[in-house]
Amino acid sequence: MPMLSKTNFFSGADDVIKVALIGCGGRGTGAAVQALSTKQNVQLVAMADAFRDRLDSSYKNIAEALKENGLEKKLQVKEDHKFTGFDAYKQVIPLADVVILATPPGFRPLHFEEAVRLNKHVFMEKPVATDPAGIQRVLTTAEEAKRKKLNVVVGLQRRYQTSYLELMKRIQDGAVGEITSAQAYWNNDGVWVRPRQAGWTEMEYQMRNWYYFVWLCGDHITEQHIHNLDVINWAMDGYPVSAQGMGGREVRKGKDYGEIFDHHYVEFHYGDDMLLNSQCRHIKGTMSKVDESIAGTKGNVYFGDGRITDLKGKTIYQFDKKNENQPYQVEHDELFEAVAKGDYKFWDAERGAKSTMTSILGRMATYSGQVIDWEKAITSGINIHPAEYAWDAKMPNMPNENGLYASAVPGITSYDLAKK
Ligand SMILES: NC(=O)c1ccc[n+]([C@@H]2O[C@H](COP(=O)([O-])OP(=O)(O)OC[C@H]3O[C@@H](n4cnc5c(N)ncnc54)[C@H](O)[C@@H]3O)[C@@H](O)[C@H]2O)c1
Repeated sequence: MPMLSKTNFFSGADDVIKVALIGCGGRGTGAAVQALSTKQNVQLVAMADAFRDRLDSSYKNIAEALKENGLEKKLQVKEDHKFTGFDAYKQVIPLADVVILATPPGFRPLHFEEAVRLNKHVFMEKPVATDPAGIQRVLTTAEEAKRKKLNVVVGLQRRYQTSYLELMKRIQDGAVGEITSAQAYWNNDGVWVRPRQAGWTEMEYQMRNWYYFVWLCGDHITEQHIHNLDVINWAMDGYPVSAQGMGGREVRKGKDYGEIFDHHYVEFHYGDDMLLNSQCRHIKGTMSKVDESIAGTKGNVYFGDGRITDLKGKTIYQFDKKNENQPYQVEHDELFEAVAKGDYKFWDAERGAKSTMTSILGRMATYSGQVIDWEKAITSGINIHPAEYAWDAKMPNMPNENGLYASAVPGITSYDLAKK
């Protein structure tokens, strides 16, 4: 970590810290309320969303949440500071000191780049991209943010959660010796569906039902399982060198489910024979488990239980759950305190990008059924986005006459990494 130093941007402890929200959905609404609930003098001054109905419901929900806590004066978004459409981000970023980026992850590289270009501190949700081209863009912007001493927090909230911090401290102090293997799980029922409505263009449909389109969401291995993969990267203080795995669509069939898989199982190789077995599944009626564990030469760590054992299974450390914090709030408490004091303390973007890349590597392995090499993948320049963001844009994946989309087929889908 760089030495703690002073940031050039936002200098006055007595001034209002102005916040703009980009992506007014469930998480953006929650993040805005958390930003406004910190001890600092923060106001939400501008909102941007692709759609007016989403912006309006977010505004209403933020107002209600703030009212419950007597914080309603912190919501200062005038009508002419509400923007919609693909370019709305350009209009709100100049109005703020801190921007919250909470759209679907496909847009994160573009929005992060613009925020840093205009010298803004950033809270951005995970994942931070959906393809290797986006990852490179975020890595380049991360360097620029460091150079400008702009605080950047990425919403991988386990990094701010007391139980994880306590366990990681002990792992780093050698409590379990060398890490030899790890497991990571995000298995549950899956998420919402937003069915197509008459009058929507293909772009509007994909944007509304974004979870099911890879350019927007990254597939659920990226969208959710990134949390668990990031924990293992954190414990390893590094990233995998290659991955191979399998996956498919067992029950995610029909018009509403776009192109993503419903299960992925991936072996991530970290070199020195350390292997992470990762599984994520969105299938109703199956075992639910969202957790991580690691095995070392001297013991094991069970993150969900907050427990470390020796090799015989005897507990040698147990986190007391009474001491757990609220990491979603803490992320904002710490970010806004740093901004208010003019401190430069947070540079999460690079690790956020590399953990996002870990999940993309896994997806490339399950989609192709091949062994995918980290270095080749991250430098591949693969870009899965439409050529332009417009409501009538030509989309990379169109439905067939039955309304169904083509999905990846292992053994057939390939990434021509050698040629890029
Ligand atoms: N850290 C966590 O635990 C956590 C939890 C939930 C969601 N998230 C993340 O937050 C992000 C948003 O998820 P969500 O659940 O709020 O989704 P959501 O669909 O509720 O909200 C996304 C919003 O972004 C808007 N949007 C889409 N493209 C846009 C664009 N180009 N410009 C402006 N607005 C745009 C959508 O219209 C929508 O209102 C995702 O990256 C997700 O992974 C993180």
